[in-house]
Amino acid sequence: MRLLVCGGAGFIGSNFVRVRLRDHGDEIVVLDKLTYAGRRENLAGLDVGFVHAGIEDAPAVAGAIDGVDAVVNFAAETHVDRSIAEPDAFVTTHAVGTWVLLEAARAAGVRYLQVSTDEVYGSIEDGSFTESSPLAPSSPYSATKAGADLLVSSYFHTFNLPTLICRGSNNYGPYQYPEKLIPLMVLNALHGDRLPVYGDGMQVRNWLYVEDFARGIGHVLEHGTPGEAYNVGGPDECPNIAVVKRIIELCGADEGLLEYVTDRPGHDRRYSLGSEKVRALGWEARTNFDEGLEQTVGWYRDNPAWWEPIRSGDYREYYERQYGSRLEE
Ligand code: NAD
Ligand code: DAU
Repeated sequence: MRLLVCGGAGFIGSNFVRVRLRDHGDEIVVLDKLTYAGRRENLAGLDVGFVHAGIEDAPAVAGAIDGVDAVVNFAAETHVDRSIAEPDAFVTTHAVGTWVLLEAARAAGVRYLQVSTDEVYGSIEDGSFTESSPLAPSSPYSATKAGADLLVSSYFHTFNLPTLICRGSNNYGPYQYPEKLIPLMVLNALHGDRLPVYGDGMQVRNWLYVEDFARGIGHVLEHGTPGEAYNVGGPDECPNIAVVKRIIELCGADEGLLEYVTDRPGHDRRYSLGSEKVRALGWEARTNFDEGLEQTVGWYRDNPAWWEPIRSGDYREYYERQYGSRLEE
């Protein structure tokens, strides 16, 4: 296929591009704004076209969509803590950006896949969300992602645009920006820095290895029914504190680095996705959490050239704003 991959210079997008080139020989153009989370280095050595633009930039999108078979949209602001501190870009990218892409896909008459998240369903105490569970997002991140999902569905119902939505659970693996729990804890543990666990650390996430999500998205793009949403959940659930303790072990760090800090406001307690619908299409997760976490720690340990420039740049200011006073309390 010829694909326009928006947000393809980020964590999941670049892993998706790698999987599609390797396993399917697709022709790919990446369109990416290169925010703090997007890096050309994530696509190093890959044979792809590249357009440096935001998805909200209609002329750039119209140019990039020319001749493709489908659009896959990963472009987003993705960190919940940043959405609490500064929601502006979340609204622009998720609402306006998604609308611009949908209009372009409609004009070009091409299939459109929106990459979404389990967070649109909110928190669940027991059991798992299905695709027909109500959307009940809690943060500015998840609320704007839910808004984007609804806009996507409206283009199917109103304009008959062949749309698909993939809702993934918490991803981890190579190339994840170290603001997210796993890479942040791995790099801190390797450096002997403190490990800030929010609240009581008993929040549960449903961990999905990034390559499994990438394959799931490709699978839905090829075999999904237009107008439908598909949950793509990980095989294992785990409380945050157990994740952090396992990282301490894998990194050979000291458990004394663990620090319970002030909780995230509006923190969702548990996510859990039922993925029967995508399994019925023939997708399965291949990597369990134990194995995937060990590989991920190995990747960060072996690739300081990837994370050193991040840790020594603007990230330090972000880190200080996010954790400075929490760690002093
Ligand atoms: P990321 O933050 O690593 O990457 C986001 C990418 O989007 C970056 O390359 C960034 O430069 C680009 N981008 C941001 N705003 C843009 C804009 N206006 N125009 C064009 N490009 C823009 O994010 P990720 O973790 O790879 O997430 C990708 C997608 O998957 C997002 O839509 C996210 O909501 C969804 N998702 C993420 C997870 C997860 O655990 N990380 C789980 C489920 C779903
Ligand atoms: O569930 C899918 C979502 O997973 C994606 O849609 C988001 O883009 C992605 O960021 C992620 O959201 P979370 O908020 O679950 O991920 P994060 O890595 O920020 O946090 C995971 C858990 O760890 C959460 O309960 C908060 C906690 N946490 C996080 C950080 C960064 C800590 O305890 N300490 C931390 O320093």
